[in-house]
Amino acid sequence: METVPVGARANSSNHSVETRGPRAAQLGATANGERYRTSIGEFDRVLGGGLVPGSVALLAGDPGVGKSTLILQVAAGIGSTDPVLYATAEESVSQVDQRARRVTVARDDLLVLPTESVEAIIDEANLRQPRLIVVDSIQTVTLGSVDGGAGSVVQVRESALALTRYAKETGTAVILIGHVTKDGNVAGPRTLEHIVDVVLQMEGDRQNAWRILRAAKNRFGATDEIGVFAMEDHGLVEVPNPSAAFIAERAREADGSVIGVALEGSRPLLVEVQALTAPTTLTMPRRTANGLDINRVHLLIAVLQRRLGLALGTHDVFANVIGGSRIVEPALDLALALAIVSSHRAEPIPPDLAVFGEIGLNGEVRGVPRAGQRVVEAGRLGFRRVIAAGRTIRSAAEVEVIAVHSVREAIEAAWSRPSPMRRVTATSHG
Ligand code: TYD
Ligand code: MG
Repeated sequence: METVPVGARANSSNHSVETRGPRAAQLGATANGERYRTSIGEFDRVLGGGLVPGSVALLAGDPGVGKSTLILQVAAGIGSTDPVLYATAEESVSQVDQRARRVTVARDDLLVLPTESVEAIIDEANLRQPRLIVVDSIQTVTLGSVDGGAGSVVQVRESALALTRYAKETGTAVILIGHVTKDGNVAGPRTLEHIVDVVLQMEGDRQNAWRILRAAKNRFGATDEIGVFAMEDHGLVEVPNPSAAFIAERAREADGSVIGVALEGSRPLLVEVQALTAPTTLTMPRRTANGLDINRVHLLIAVLQRRLGLALGTHDVFANVIGGSRIVEPALDLALALAIVSSHRAEPIPPDLAVFGEIGLNGEVRGVPRAGQRVVEAGRLGFRRVIAAGRTIRSAAEVEVIAVHSVREAIEAAWSRPSPMRRVTATSHG
């Protein structure tokens, strides 16, 4: 029996019945699980182990966040062994070249095509047979056969569809760069997200160098992994140990600062949660949240008022997560609650303490997944005491786990002296 590799066009000449379109292929002949490693480990990890041939990924993010820089570095990594076609519609070749010099990637490895035409990209790809095509950006290219200007819903969709067809037919990997619109939509129309296999989101703000890459959609891997980078003078640098980086600048003796242990994908991540409470003259005191869910802030303030009698009704409350990451995990509740109490009392938390746990409406502290891993990560970064929910009794070597059932207990534990009696030294399990 004849097998047809995926991507090969059907050849109907030796059949009596006229057939068009692709032919069936045996699964065993196609699924080889091959991926292209890009030499950027954090990028590969978010993708689930590298770029899948024939896949289409959309990289979305605010203008200026570093999309072109990241993909240039990725392209150069693959370019060192395989041809890569980098189509630039937003910038000239010399602008791309300047960036390549700045991030010191090998410039000979890249084919840069300045064009706004999808047909021109596909023609060039047919000629050069690249392994990877980059389109920077999908909102600035057009298909000649389609009405509507660049960036219009129909152009974005049809251009993406044409490139997707090419990717599937030839096994070429495609990365589309797209801007996030004001209302948070990727590349304007949501339809783009359904066309592509992978949606990567790049986040970060101008105030700090951290850049977080996450997979919002991934047909070939998990969607909860994140990659962490720092934007430096010479491009994006991987941050393989984000916990250490995120808490490095912490003012150790400041009130209102608590280290929480969150989980990003399969990876525990230590972050500094900050709160500032200040007396207000407003009848509606202000509550703001940066990097945290504002609803959680409201909820925890209500819990602290009702269960502990904290007089926050006359105070503004500002809450922050440091590290350029938006964390929506309820496991950070305990850190946030303690940060608010710490600021309100103007009493710093001991610097060797990390906490995690979800807080319920009755002020109870609830367990969260992968407690053991979180404890180990805290210990690895030098924290000697961890406050966590009641059933979290396992600890890592050199880490004392203080089990609590309520916010009240957590507060008592946070400001009590460490007791060597409670030290447990067993190995942990996830
Ligand atoms: P860029 O990749 O052009 O962002 P995007 O494609 O998402 O619009 O990079 C944006 C910013 O990053 C730019 O303002 C300058 C800064 N930058 C650095 O700090 N270091 C570098 O090495 C490079 C290339 C850019
Ligand atoms: Mg750009």
